[in-house]
Amino acid sequence: MSARLLDGRKAADTTVERVRQAVSERLDAGLSRPGLAVILVGDDAASRVYVRNKEKACQRAGIASFVETLDVSTTEQQLLERVQQLNADPRVHGILVQLPVPDHIDQSLVTNSIDPWKDVDGFHAENVGRLALRQLGLRPCTPMGIMTLLRQNGIEPKGMHAVVVGASNIVGRPMALELLLAGATVTVTHRFTRDLASHVRQAELLVVAVGKPNVVDGDWIRPGAVVVDVGIHRLEDGSLRGDLDFESAKKNAGWITPVPGGVGPMTVASLISNTLIACERFDGVD
Ligand code: GUN
Repeated sequence: MSARLLDGRKAADTTVERVRQAVSERLDAGLSRPGLAVILVGDDAASRVYVRNKEKACQRAGIASFVETLDVSTTEQQLLERVQQLNADPRVHGILVQLPVPDHIDQSLVTNSIDPWKDVDGFHAENVGRLALRQLGLRPCTPMGIMTLLRQNGIEPKGMHAVVVGASNIVGRPMALELLLAGATVTVTHRFTRDLASHVRQAELLVVAVGKPNVVDGDWIRPGAVVVDVGIHRLEDGSLRGDLDFESAKKNAGWITPVPGGVGPMTVASLISNTLIACERFDGVD
């Protein structure tokens, strides 16, 4: 068997186009243009690329983007004050502080200082709590993007046995919640899990979000499984790969995300979608 591709670029284009149309209709109706503020502290090369991609997606969707690069020496207090100003700025409907922030800044303090209804990353404790309680809120972008990618390809998680490998705050745990809310039976594995292979072998839907290559072996994948690889790693020759070895994984999988071009574009598309949702809520229009 050779797997069908879950094409994240195509699905992301569909989302961005939907948002572009909605923004254009807002403007025609005399409503405000959605705005996204992105703060980058320091000059991490990978973060700069991610921020540039977010800026480009905003341009395509007609969202105003305000990117601020702050010096690596910016104090926690200065960053918190800047977030407060953006919380009060009516042109800004979404605020994103690119992670990681330098070590002298407490990441969760900063994340939780963002107005929950401007937290378009969906990282605020209130938004994660709202997701767990199935309440309306802004949802973490990567898990939300993966759910969109599955559904746009006609894959319905209800009743499936889903296995999420990795239990991080921003992917693994909210991914497990999304799948649970969608009616899947969910196993979450983590670094203390014994016999990872036996869990992976049972997965009808497998989401690998370890952040390290070669933890999951492609040979463990159940024949026909839907496989989502969240990892992205740059190799010495400059090429990109995911957490999985794509060539071995695709032999067993029924569906698989490529890297690049799978989950990455969907994360950005969810951010764009969340910015529109935040703007509509700001206006009381939904
Ligand atoms: N760093 C890596 N991924 C992300 C993301 O989705 N949002 C933010 N804010 N920082 C990140």
